Amino acid sequence: MLAKSEPQLCITCHSEMKVDFTRPFRHRVMEGAIKCSDCHNPHGGFDQKQLRASNGTDVACLKCHIDKQGPFVFEHAPLKTEGCTICHIPHGANNPKMLRRDRVFQLCIECHSNVGTVGGPNTPSFHNLNSARYQNCTTCHVKIHGSNTQRFFFR
Ligand code: HEC
Ligand code: HEC
Ligand code: HEC
Ligand code: HEC
Ligand code: HEC
Ligand code: HEC
Repeated sequence: MLAKSEPQLCITCHSEMKVDFTRPFRHRVMEGAIKCSDCHNPHGGFDQKQLRASNGTDVACLKCHIDKQGPFVFEHAPLKTEGCTICHIPHGANNPKMLRRDRVFQLCIECHSNVGTVGGPNTPSFHNLNSARYQNCTTCHVKIHGSNTQRFFFR
């Protein structure tokens, strides 16, 4: 008995959100593949931004991305401590995989360098960050969301 169907219903008032869903890397909400209300509770809730669950536990995301849930033998700490949105922009982004940075290594280095404050360990000295080989962190650290077999997420 909705006045309009989603997402038009929501966009009527939240028109400024429409641009998020026209970015090159996005959740295909305007195309009808997923709905605003898959992630948000339109009536409100106890969590920020009317999310279906707090960012900390990320149930809003894990409903569909179940493979990222774990528990893993080797967890990548920020998934559990900060949640998906520390690395991903949830609506849509100009960056591949909806990452917060356009190059993967920029994202990693913000935590994995002595400069950062949210501290993971520094990259080992044999990582030459000026070489293209090492800049593509996830070609080696493949299982970046957590692994059951390898501490450094190689597989
Ligand atoms: C009739 C207008 C209207 C419609 C339709 C509407 N909203 Fe809202 N929504 C609002 C207003 C007004 C606020 C409060 C904004 C504020 O506090 O800045 C709000 C708040 C929100 C927030 C919280 C924003 C924040 O910063 O905490 C979310 C998320 C949201 N709406 C999602 C939706 C979704 C999803 C739909 C469709 C199912 C929807 N809204 C439909 C008017 C509307
Ligand atoms: C894939 C899950 C997902 C979908 C689908 C989604 N949202 Fe969101 N939305 C989020 C998350 C997560 C945040 C909180 C972002 C943050 O805090 O960085 C958010 C934030 C918001 C906010 C607050 C914006 C702000 O600047 O604080 C509004 C309003 C909103 N969404 C409306 C919508 C509307 C309208 C739709 C559908 C057209 C929609 N969302 C679809 C996950 C989603
Ligand atoms: C209702 C199901 C659903 C929910 C909830 C959902 N997603 Fe997705 N997500 C999808 C689908 C489907 C795709 C595949 C993209 C496409 O082609 O539409 C996707 C793709 C992605 C991608 C990859 C995009 C790319 O460029 O390859 C990321 C990253 C992502 N989602 C993160 C999130 C995060 C973070 C949340 C929680 C804020 C979330 N998703 C919630 C269904 C969902
Ligand atoms: C520490 C940063 C980080 C966090 C936190 C994170 N991701 Fe990712 N995610 C990435 C990176 C980096 C990629 C791209 C991997 C690549 O280059 O192959 C990615 C890719 C993805 C993809 C697309 C490729 C795939 O493996 O399916 C999805 C979907 C996704 N993430 C969902 C999530 C969800 C859901 C969460 C929260 C439970 C989350 N991510 C938390 C860094 C992160
Ligand atoms: C938001 C901060 C953050 C981001 C972004 C981030 N990490 Fe991490 N990472 C951590 C923390 C915290 C740990 C856990 C350190 C510990 O357990 O002592 C960790 C652990 C690791 C480990 C395991 C180290 C060990 O000794 O067990 C690897 C490998 C790793 N991260 C690689 C990456 C890569 C590659 C990226 C980019 C795709 C990335 N991280 C992005 C915070 C981050
Ligand atoms: C060519 C493959 C390769 C690439 C690319 C790569 N790494 Fe590594 N990484 C490794 C290896 C090998 C280790 C060491 C594992 C060991 O000590 O047994 C490692 C270890 C690490 C550790 C753990 C350090 C510790 O003391 O626990 C972190 C953090 C890390 N890498 C981050 C990154 C980041 C960030 C990038 C991208 C800038 C990156 N790696 C790119 C292969 C790679």
